[in-house]
Amino acid sequence: MGVQENIEHAASERAKFREMKEGTAEDWAIIGGEYRAFAKGLPDRVLDHLKLLDGDFGGFPICRLEHSLQTATRAHRDGRDEQYVVMALLHDIGDTLGSYNHPEVAASIIKPFVSEEVHWICQNHGAFQGYYYFHFLGMDQNARDKFADHPHFEACREFCEKYDQAAFDPDYDSEPLEFFEPMVRRVMAKPIASAYAKALEEE
Ligand SMILES: [Fe+2]
Ligand SMILES: [Fe+2]
Repeated sequence: MGVQENIEHAASERAKFREMKEGTAEDWAIIGGEYRAFAKGLPDRVLDHLKLLDGDFGGFPICRLEHSLQTATRAHRDGRDEQYVVMALLHDIGDTLGSYNHPEVAASIIKPFVSEEVHWICQNHGAFQGYYYFHFLGMDQNARDKFADHPHFEACREFCEKYDQAAFDPDYDSEPLEFFEPMVRRVMAKPIASAYAKALEEE
């Protein structure tokens, strides 16, 4: 297919409206079809973005990708299920775009695919991880205590203690990213909870 044909083909597949309020069922059939195909590519986009952490040390003993792999490997070897391991792998993926709120970025990405508890661990791991270093930066080491009565406090404390704060060892034999790819694809194959879940089913 030539360039011009490509452009025409692409043009024929686009909605006609200039404002959404002009939209028709035909327009939305086109967009819906594109959305289903695009959504299937999510694991690839997430894995590509995770690779941006490669070589990003930020002063730490190992780079952020290696830390992610080590956190996930430790969780996997400790018998955690795939949702948990994928969360462990992705928990710092927001470091690049969410430099001031990275846990929330990762939590938003995994939210449609994991349990409420696993999502909560991811969303709040920053305050719990702070137990191990906030006091060195003039911050409150016990910032996590604001969640003391929360039902997922212990689960988040355990994630940081066993896997996250423990995953800075340059000599640890982490599994490579390829090892976790099938898990990411399985966990992200279908949303458990999403406002768009119904649109995805109409295939
Ligand atoms: Fe983190
Ligand atoms: Fe981390």
